[in-house]
Amino acid sequence: MPLTIHQVPKLVFGIDALSSAGEYLRALGIRRPFVVAAQSSAGHAQRLHPNAHVDSSTRNEPSVAHFSRLLDAARAYGPDAVVGIGGGSVLDAAKLVAALCGRAQTLAEAWGIGNLAGRHLPLICIPTTSGTGSEVSPNAILLDEESQSKKAVISAHLVPDAAFLDPALTVTLPAPVTAATGLDALTHCIEAYANNFAHPLVDTWALDGIRHTARHLVTAVREPENIEARTSLMLGSLYGGLCLGPVNTAAVHALSYPLGTRHHIPHGHANAILLPHVLRFNLPAAPARYAAVALALGAEQQSTAEATAAAGIGRLWALIAETQLEMRLSALRIAESEIPALAAEGLAITRLMRNNVRSMTQQDAELIYRAAFVGRRED
Ligand SMILES: [Fe+2]
Repeated sequence: MPLTIHQVPKLVFGIDALSSAGEYLRALGIRRPFVVAAQSSAGHAQRLHPNAHVDSSTRNEPSVAHFSRLLDAARAYGPDAVVGIGGGSVLDAAKLVAALCGRAQTLAEAWGIGNLAGRHLPLICIPTTSGTGSEVSPNAILLDEESQSKKAVISAHLVPDAAFLDPALTVTLPAPVTAATGLDALTHCIEAYANNFAHPLVDTWALDGIRHTARHLVTAVREPENIEARTSLMLGSLYGGLCLGPVNTAAVHALSYPLGTRHHIPHGHANAILLPHVLRFNLPAAPARYAAVALALGAEQQSTAEATAAAGIGRLWALIAETQLEMRLSALRIAESEIPALAAEGLAITRLMRNNVRSMTQQDAELIYRAAFVGRRED
């Protein structure tokens, strides 16, 4: 199967990449950048350009209603470029602002894959977490409060013109955010590698992203200013993002979305909770792929692919335990009676479920949620 990858034309990676972003805006002759910034990044945003109009109103899990206000603010300003600086929520919002500002198309017309008509404003993304990889992906996700679901716009027009990845921007992240976002990146890589549409062109990134993240996540959680660990996590996140366009994720992401829409559990944390349970379910369908994942995670080779893959799930549990993320849904104020609805809402995300290496019934999804409810290890 042929695979199409839409790449960011200019990618700057390394300490002080933030300064290059300012130079890039000046070189382009930008006069009025509209900057969508995380609250904690507003200071960095001001340094990018003397005329930067900084909007730091975007929080986690931005809703369609919030996005409409943000787009109105951008239209009122009349920018000649859009910059996103923050975590995945901020970058996704910035990408959609750049695509819809100054154009007639509405958000409702743009939902789905390939429906976005175009983008004429330059778009620059600067991640401040190592998780989503949104700075290089064609995806943007918003919470549609009306239908209580996460909706996606996926389009080559959402791939930024330039991405500046500066690991130094991540040293101030609190440990739980480092853990959750790192496990999101890890999930992107694992789900892209063990995927019905997996492709050799993406496999290398996926495996390398798993290696970088698995080796350095705990260090970054414990030593936030360890720049070597932060750099590795940002590489892992970038590699995960590069997989998101051409291959995308699968059942972990699909099942985790209802935890975000209903309970506002941070995206990476929700993925972490479900990841080992979904892998355990998927393993019989793709033992060789999960054995390769296991080795990249740092597990020992066993006598069979199945055993190696199982050792990988054990390694994953140990890794997550060291980050101290809560792995029991029951401890997160979620009622057991909600499980059938959570399972049904996750299964309904067919654009991701169709990527999953093992098909999943309502009963399967409920069993996965029940295992996650008590945080039961089954490796
Ligand atoms: Fe994700």
